[in-house]
Amino acid sequence: MVRADLEKTAGDVAAMFDEVAEGYDRTRARLWLGRMASWGAHTAAAAEAGPGCRMLDVAAGTGTSSGALLRTGATVVACDFSQGMLAVGRRRRPGIGFVAGDGHQLPFADGAFDAVTISFGLRNVHDTRGVLAEMLRVTRPGGTLVVCEFSLPTTPVRRALFRTYLRRVVPVIARRVSTNPEAYYYLGESIQAWLRPTELATLIGDVGWGRVRWRPLDGGVIHLHTAVAPSFSTDPHA
Ligand SMILES: C[S@@+](CC[C@H](N)C(=O)[O-])C[C@H]1O[C@@H](n2cnc3c(N)ncnc32)[C@H](O)[C@@H]1O
Repeated sequence: MVRADLEKTAGDVAAMFDEVAEGYDRTRARLWLGRMASWGAHTAAAAEAGPGCRMLDVAAGTGTSSGALLRTGATVVACDFSQGMLAVGRRRRPGIGFVAGDGHQLPFADGAFDAVTISFGLRNVHDTRGVLAEMLRVTRPGGTLVVCEFSLPTTPVRRALFRTYLRRVVPVIARRVSTNPEAYYYLGESIQAWLRPTELATLIGDVGWGRVRWRPLDGGVIHLHTAVAPSFSTDPHA
């Protein structure tokens, strides 16, 4: 069984997700007690998804996060580099355009999308800054970025409870329902080593996104970051 480490080497991460693919949706639903639907709806609302909107969901996996975008009437492209996750997604979620691709080098033209999202994916990439820059490249000026990601709550009691959940409960559930339980040790490790919400906000701004905002969901176990691709004036006298 493949288990990525915090180096997040592309081959290891893709192989690990290939191995969890078949049981991914089931494990996801059990681990997070059905809260994923609500987090997806918040992401879609923050991205202002709706009919006529061209959306890209990066690191979309089996398309669970993309499904929430599709339900708004938007046109959704789901991009991921795990062939196993994509195969399950294509089988289960017709209506979503699944495309193989690495977030570090997205196979799309500049400004191709009105909004780009990444849910529970940015924490898994090797070069966070590089992926945020690629997402900016493929977003039209004035388009939106939404990052939905786990975080450690700031209040000590909640943080301790969430850590205990990650260390003690997640591996037990994963052993029962996942096709690669080892991967769920990586899940806990990667969440605990992940950037704080303020650090991620700074990084998003450094890459060139504007109007960066963030807010906690569910007591701070999730943070939603939003930002806007800058609009450059074509008037040389402006
Ligand atoms: C935890 S899953 C999230 C899937 C989905 N967004 C969701 O909310 O369920 C993380 C996904 O990120 C993908 N991933 C990680 N690094 C990637 C990269 N550099 N390029 C494309 N996909 C990547 C993995 O293959 C995996 O499918």
